[in-house]
Amino acid sequence: MAVDYSRLAADYDAARADEAVDRDFWLRGLVEVGGVRPGDRILDVGAGTGRFARLLAGSSRVLALDASRAMMEASRGKGPFDRVLGDAHALPFRRDAFDVAVLVMVVHQLADLPRVLGEVARVARRAALATTDIATRQLGILEEAFPSLLRIDRRRFPPIDRLVSALEAAGFSQVTVEERRLRRTIPTSAQLERVRRKYVSTLDLIPPAEFRAGLEFLERELPRRCGEAYEIDGGFTFVGASR
Ligand SMILES: C[S@@+](CC[C@H](N)C(=O)[O-])C[C@H]1O[C@@H](n2cnc3c(N)ncnc32)[C@H](O)[C@@H]1O
Repeated sequence: MAVDYSRLAADYDAARADEAVDRDFWLRGLVEVGGVRPGDRILDVGAGTGRFARLLAGSSRVLALDASRAMMEASRGKGPFDRVLGDAHALPFRRDAFDVAVLVMVVHQLADLPRVLGEVARVARRAALATTDIATRQLGILEEAFPSLLRIDRRRFPPIDRLVSALEAAGFSQVTVEERRLRRTIPTSAQLERVRRKYVSTLDLIPPAEFRAGLEFLERELPRRCGEAYEIDGGFTFVGASR
């Protein structure tokens, strides 16, 4: 199920990026669980708008690769990292070109996960991944608003045990998994704006009529149930792997 990032690119950072959360939660997970170290030669696979390439480039040499021209364009001017438009299924690099490959919220987008992980294991000695464990996902008002959301995500996100097996089959012998909780409060108006901008790509895969009805439901129900403060409480799984 391909998501059209050429439409999502312009709004992506406004809907998703948050400097403090990106540093304190996501980057920290990549370092502490994923084993990313200062000075590593890093390949950011599915780098999108360069949100993490920019942060990683503070202490490492980073190459950002993405299949979407629009996302790559949005990463321009973000920082001192190189960019390549390319497909993770056929990485245009030699064996061991990188110390570590990072994949943040990418594994659910791929047509052939084993093939991509095989490519990752060929070009990098280690891998640091972040994804959602669909089996432990807490259900909330979004799933109430969009009845097909969970069904679509169950088809998209690989279960963590399958991800671990695929990493091992690709040649990574040591795999570490840790789920981390992200809790924060944002204005309810900001959460509504995130939904309007389709801040999770599955919203782009929901039938348009269901999306409109779900958004109307949230515009009515979110302020009624949450007042002005919407609490985000979600778990994300970080995975570190080395050959
Ligand atoms: C949810 S975004 C994550 C972007 C970035 N890692 C972040 O966390 O902000 C997923 C990205 O994966 C990219 N992507 C999807 N399939 C890909 C593929 N086969 N090869 C390279 N990039 C791909 C998309 O274009 C998109 O930019």
